[in-house]
Order: sequence, then structure tokens, then C-alpha cells
Amino acid sequence: MYIVPSSTAYNVSRKLASIFSCNVSGVVRKRFPDNEMYLKIIDDVKGEDVLLVGNTRSDQDIIEYLLLLDAIKEEEPKSITAVVPFFGYARQHMRYNNGEPVSSKVFTQAINQYADRIITVELHDEQTLNYSKVPFTDIKIINPIYKYFMDKNIDFVISPDDGGYERVKLMGSKLGIPAYYIDKKRIDSTTVKMTLPEEDYKDKNILILDDIISTGGTIIKASRMLKDKGVRNIYACAIHGVFANNSNEKIERYVNELTVTDTIETKYSNITISGEIAESL
Ligand code: R5P
Repeated sequence: MYIVPSSTAYNVSRKLASIFSCNVSGVVRKRFPDNEMYLKIIDDVKGEDVLLVGNTRSDQDIIEYLLLLDAIKEEEPKSITAVVPFFGYARQHMRYNNGEPVSSKVFTQAINQYADRIITVELHDEQTLNYSKVPFTDIKIINPIYKYFMDKNIDFVISPDDGGYERVKLMGSKLGIPAYYIDKKRIDSTTVKMTLPEEDYKDKNILILDDIISTGGTIIKASRMLKDKGVRNIYACAIHGVFANNSNEKIERYVNELTVTDTIETKYSNITISGEIAESL
């Protein structure tokens, strides 16, 4: 087996290689004079089972991922598994208005041209799985997050919206603590009203758990409401730390600890999803 890392997933690639005792292929990355991307896989992957590990978060990530898929395929490997810890462009998993593309379908089908299997982590919406002609597994991350928080004396876990309630219920039952969600209602295109459940928050240690932090607006609003209720510590955790526009810096002002997994590798990636990916293979 060989692991080919995109530039978005060096750490997860190395961790997977150590779990499977296999090599991480070197990749030459350069720019042509006109700034187009040049890539070359150094190791010989002919006849090998190859995992390509990388994200599709930015436009550049997508180009890199597709070019690496083609580079691997040209070498005639035994199989290609596309591991995409953060499957970007997944919010547009359906057409909301006429004239729009279904972006998660576009990238699923592009990967289908090359890969025998796709593995992702906590997709924005599972509708995307239906666009694939090859087996497509979406992994849910609970255990590594539970292990990280099990000794932190959390009093309860809360989801910033009802969509994440199943996740926090599961986490609450593992930690042996109550789980709640914040009622989130959209008032108009720019206003969202969030209402905390009626509980005693004073001096409590609270874990806010979400699937993704992007602009940070959701986590910040939830944290401010909880602070106003007199909580002692707020631990903010999400699977994917996108941190658009450096929102991490703002979030840090409102929470005692910010933690995400390494689906996107950041300085807050205290939790690894590599074990869960390895188990799914
Ligand atoms: C909403 O459905 C998601 O679970 C997240 O709460 C949301 O996407 C977070 O986005 P932001 O950080 O921009 O508020």
C-alpha cells in the first residue's frame, strides 16, 4: 500500500502510514512560469493499493486533488481509494434555485472517474453519497472526541442547533452527562434568533459541539449567550475547523478552549481522525 498526500493532509497521511506501516510517496510540487500547478509523484505506485489523502476545501485544493488522482491512475495502480477528510463544496448538495450547479455532485463524479472508493468524514449532507457510482463511506467521529473530553469534567454538552442534536446526544451518553441544543430560528435573510434551553448554567463547564466552524458566527453567538448565564468554562469543539477569515482569532476571545479534528490541519487540531479512517478501510 502507498499513501499519496495532497498538500492539505500531510499529518493525517503520516499517521495513516504509521498505522498501516506503509510509505508516504514524495510529491514534487512546482509552478509553471504561467503559475499553473505542476505535480509529480516520486514513488512507483504501479500495481499498488493507493490512498490519496487530501481535502477539496479551496479551488486550488480541488485542482491539486484531481491532478494527483490522474497522476496516480496513469501509473496503473491496483486500486485507488480517495480519502477526503474535508469534502468542501458540499453545502451545495442540491439545487436551491434554478441555474445553480450541484457542486458536491460535480466533485463526487469527478473523483469517480479515477477512484474505486471514496471515504469522507462528516459530510455536510449525506445526499452527496447518492451521487457516487463507486462505494462512498462517510465516517462519523465520536470516539476520538469523547476520549479528548472524558477527563475535562464537562457538565453538559450542547449543540448550537437542532441539526446537531443526535451528535450531542451520543456524546452526552458516552460522557454520562445531559445533552441539549439551542433553538435556532431564521427571522430573515440576515437575522437568526438563538434561544438557550432553560437550564442552570451557573459555574458549569460546557462543551459546545458542532460539525463545522466557518465564520465562527454560530459558536460566538452561542458562547456569548452562555457567558451571560454565568458558565465557568466553555469548550468549543467542531469536526471541521474551516476558520474563514481567521475567525479562530475572534472565537478565542469568547471560549476557554477551541478544539477541532485534523480533517483540516490547524493549530487547534488536537484530535485526529486517522484511526477512524484506518478502521473504515
Ligand atoms: C450549521 O448548520 C452548521 O452546523 C454550523 O453551525 C455552521 O455551518 C457554522 O457556520 P459558522 O461558523 O459560519 O457560523
